Amino acid sequence: MGVWLRVRIVVQTMKSSESNRSTCYDPLVEAYQKSKQLPFRLLEQHTYLSLIGDVAGKAILDLGCGSGFYTRQFKQRGAEQVVGVDVALKMIESARAAETREPLGIDYRVEDVAALGQLGNFDLVVASYLLNCLPTQAQLSQVCQTIAANLKPGGRFVTLNDNVQQPPETYALCARYGCAKSTAQPLQEGTPILLSFVVDGQPFSFNNYHFSRTTYELALQSAGFKTMQWHQPMLSPESIQQYGRDFWSAFLEHSPIVVIEGSR
Ligand SMILES: C[S@@+](CC[C@H](N)C(=O)[O-])C[C@H]1O[C@@H](n2cnc3c(N)ncnc32)[C@H](O)[C@@H]1O
Repeated sequence: MGVWLRVRIVVQTMKSSESNRSTCYDPLVEAYQKSKQLPFRLLEQHTYLSLIGDVAGKAILDLGCGSGFYTRQFKQRGAEQVVGVDVALKMIESARAAETREPLGIDYRVEDVAALGQLGNFDLVVASYLLNCLPTQAQLSQVCQTIAANLKPGGRFVTLNDNVQQPPETYALCARYGCAKSTAQPLQEGTPILLSFVVDGQPFSFNNYHFSRTTYELALQSAGFKTMQWHQPMLSPESIQQYGRDFWSAFLEHSPIVVIEGSR
């Protein structure tokens, strides 16, 4: 078989397996990107990037990378190798389009993280808002196994997540920061939580799933994580300058988000 024929078969096989994947996130690409302008994102980005710290020279795996909002920033901040993985084809198409416009050398893949296995030995695995997307405890455990399998010994995992300890009676307070949460039932393992955003006057929403802090910690521990820390959002100079310190008081008291950090 000629070289070009073999190359075409490989490319066609890759495209057909990628195009079979469609998720609830596929129609949300543009709206989700625009949601990065909402007020709470200022604290999200500052807290997440501060806790991730210096990425210069590091190998980073970004799981559930979406359209590459953070993935690109890691490369722009000097990471040596960055791989982004997402199950939603449209998210990865958007990330690849950004890579075509501004090549940074990021490798994007369409894969279900629960079935990913080991891609390499990374210094840092990140997964912003991935764990809270997973509807079952089995998937949470599998994803934690994937995270651990891809970390060097001593490597770190850092993720943004829904604050699973936020009392539902405080959910309504999040709306003024751009992120409304609601649930139709008392929180139990796997209870859906509806996240609603309004961007440019257009509402959109999707479900996350609740698991207790203990369930998260057991899943990470079983995967081999030795230390785990839960961090509350922090104010940045920019967030104070734009909105004033008082604006953030309810957000800081009843935070809808946390950063989870673990190391092997
Ligand atoms: C809320 S978005 C966050 C996107 C990005 N990390 C960010 O913070 O901008 C969650 C992403 O996780 C992806 N996702 C959900 N379950 C996944 C799975 N099992 N494997 C890979 N990606 C998944 C979704 O397709 C979606 O792009």
